[in-house]
Amino acid sequence: MSESILIIGASGQIGNELTQALRLQYGNKQVIASDIREGDEEMMRSGPFEIMDATDKEGILSIVKKYKVTQVYLLAAMLSVTAEEHPKKAWDLNMNALLGVLDLAKEKHIKQVYWPSSIAVFGSTTPKENTPQKTIMEPSTVYGISKLSGEFWCNYYHEKYGVDVRSIRYPGIISWKTKPGGGTTDYAIDIYFKALKEGAYECFLSEETRLPMMYMDDAVAATIQLMQAKPADVKLRTGYNLAAIDFTPAEMALEIKKHLPDFKISYKPDFRQKIAASWPSSIDDTAARKDWNWQHQFDLAAITKEMLKNIKTESIV
Ligand code: SER
Repeated sequence: MSESILIIGASGQIGNELTQALRLQYGNKQVIASDIREGDEEMMRSGPFEIMDATDKEGILSIVKKYKVTQVYLLAAMLSVTAEEHPKKAWDLNMNALLGVLDLAKEKHIKQVYWPSSIAVFGSTTPKENTPQKTIMEPSTVYGISKLSGEFWCNYYHEKYGVDVRSIRYPGIISWKTKPGGGTTDYAIDIYFKALKEGAYECFLSEETRLPMMYMDDAVAATIQLMQAKPADVKLRTGYNLAAIDFTPAEMALEIKKHLPDFKISYKPDFRQKIAASWPSSIDDTAARKDWNWQHQFDLAAITKEMLKNIKTESIV
């Protein structure tokens, strides 16, 4: 049977590119995009789109029925920085949206669910380097608490009700098409835009803050790969550690200087430094590589080339 896929949060950073990748693979009509706000021109033109609130379970159910949806990718969430500003709202969105979709799967309205987790599930007591899949998890942000709780809800629905739910702990994701909003890792995107526009960037993290990161194309490929893996190969029903590269703002600046020799970076760490400092600097993703053959393609040099080229060609600056 062919899949009918609903993306919730399709106008966001990951949702936008994931929708386009899925439309290419499954056909435009098979992938229904939804969000509380409209997406970009390409998304609105290329296939079905519905305005929807991710916490409105009945609203989601009516779309599921209308399009005979089989899979839901639930991407709507409040990221780390915004969640610190609106803790209760973040909890409501991040948690209730997930529980609603898990219930739809439990009630057999849909067959498969994807829900993103994050490196924010880890905290300052977690081993920082090569952070293992299973380790101490004491998150200090509302975002991290919601992602960790969500992972265990996913696992619970799988164990207790047989729900086929899959999840990845994304590192910082670097992309140029749609900007993220309110994340701690967003500096690694802003830096390219500022480098091209102003030749300089003031970084809100300190120069030696090492964080795990990944290019959007790799993140989208991993997500689809996990969703297409045989159920028996998906051995973890919490969230899979996923890694590509890790670097500091200073290392990133050096890479940019290879293309823009006059580029200048300065550092003015703010409250976001504390969030970044509580997260891992690198991730051990052996389980993802072993269970469903995950492999990343883009290193820092390739990402930098792609980012500068695309931002320039699309004249976003
Ligand atoms: N990129 C996210 C953030 O910075 C982490 O998952 O909030």
